[in-house]
Amino acid sequence: MAHNSDIRDRLTISREEYADRRKQLASNLNGATAVIFAGKGGGLHDDFQPDLNFQYLTGIIDEPGAILLLNPNDPNPSRKEVLFLEPHLPELERWDGWRGPIDAKLREKHGFKALMRTSAFPQMLLNACKSSLKGTCLHPIAHHEQPVGPDLEVFQKLQQRIPGFQIDDGSRLIPSQRAVKSAAEKAMIERSAEITAKGFTAILEKLTPGITEFDIQEAAEHAYRSHGSRGPFYGSIVGSGFNATILHYRSNDAVIADGDLVVIDSGARYGDGPCGYGSDVTRTYPANGRFTERQKEVYSIVLESMETTIAAVKPGIAYAELDSISRKIITDAGFGDFYPHGVGHPIGLEVHDVQPDTVVPEGAIITIEPGIYLPDENMGIRIEDDILVTAAGPVNLTGNIPKTIEEIESAMANKTS
Ligand code: GLY
Ligand code: MN
Ligand code: MN
Repeated sequence: MAHNSDIRDRLTISREEYADRRKQLASNLNGATAVIFAGKGGGLHDDFQPDLNFQYLTGIIDEPGAILLLNPNDPNPSRKEVLFLEPHLPELERWDGWRGPIDAKLREKHGFKALMRTSAFPQMLLNACKSSLKGTCLHPIAHHEQPVGPDLEVFQKLQQRIPGFQIDDGSRLIPSQRAVKSAAEKAMIERSAEITAKGFTAILEKLTPGITEFDIQEAAEHAYRSHGSRGPFYGSIVGSGFNATILHYRSNDAVIADGDLVVIDSGARYGDGPCGYGSDVTRTYPANGRFTERQKEVYSIVLESMETTIAAVKPGIAYAELDSISRKIITDAGFGDFYPHGVGHPIGLEVHDVQPDTVVPEGAIITIEPGIYLPDENMGIRIEDDILVTAAGPVNLTGNIPKTIEEIESAMANKTS
């Protein structure tokens, strides 16, 4: 296999796949007009993170302000999908990156036949909506304390202007597509899992009483970057002793003590620049390389809960059913009050990815991550793997990262340094 750290060996999603995703979406619009906004932002202090549904449909991560218009009924085949980009401003682009004029090269780069500037968007949208007389909202439906979704806001204004214009909820359409991973997406998540495994090897090598939690975070994230990742998929959690009982502990600044268990929840991001897919893995390791009898007792319950739940993962099973399988084992062992979170979630472009349904579809990748947290004993234990859901059975993408007591103690006893 080519070396992961070689940037030329990069896995990506092809322009054809992005076009297929849009085609599939358009086929579910029933002739309605739909709009996806990339969102704004970016600059010296922050990377631009496009709206993830926009990114999913276009792969474009360097065009703040872009808008995708889908108008499946347009009689002109090259106008059924139009991408609008903010004006080309060469002076500004000397600061934030060259975007260039609209020409054949840009059409080829973005994979769109119809590219226009955003100044043309209002009239094009009006024409599309006058002809379709219906708009489908694809952006998530906001709760009442959030701003109204950007496409609903636009459609509501058009409803005041176009007699008979109707608005539908299509907010589950893109999540339903995103929930089922393509071969290319699976390959990218598998690559991120391989890189994550390098990070946990570095962790096992480094872990010893007296170092800080941040030393562990650094070891993992350095390994990710050295093996083809641009960094962690989410903020790494390294909690030792009592800190391991804080579910989303992030300060990672305590000194790790002899006898502590250390919860490490971290995964590599893999993909273009700041965007892309990733893994979400947790291991709980003893700082000094040996579990105490009490730690073994509680750890074994979490591991049994995890492995039993992973074995039950199959297409069509309800997330709630997986949760009860894992919870029953922990509750029967007497620790039901000490397992305060759900058993897992889908991963994808986001670490807590879209979950459009109550059941797990074939082709999803989900985490299984039971835990027991005992603040009075300064002990927290969570173990988390990423599972590909197939009809032939669950495929554990991160199961090779040491997690049985024997594997962990043996890896820590056989350090190379
Ligand atoms: N890394 C956050 C989680 O496991 O959900
Ligand atoms: Mn996690
Ligand atoms: Mn998780």
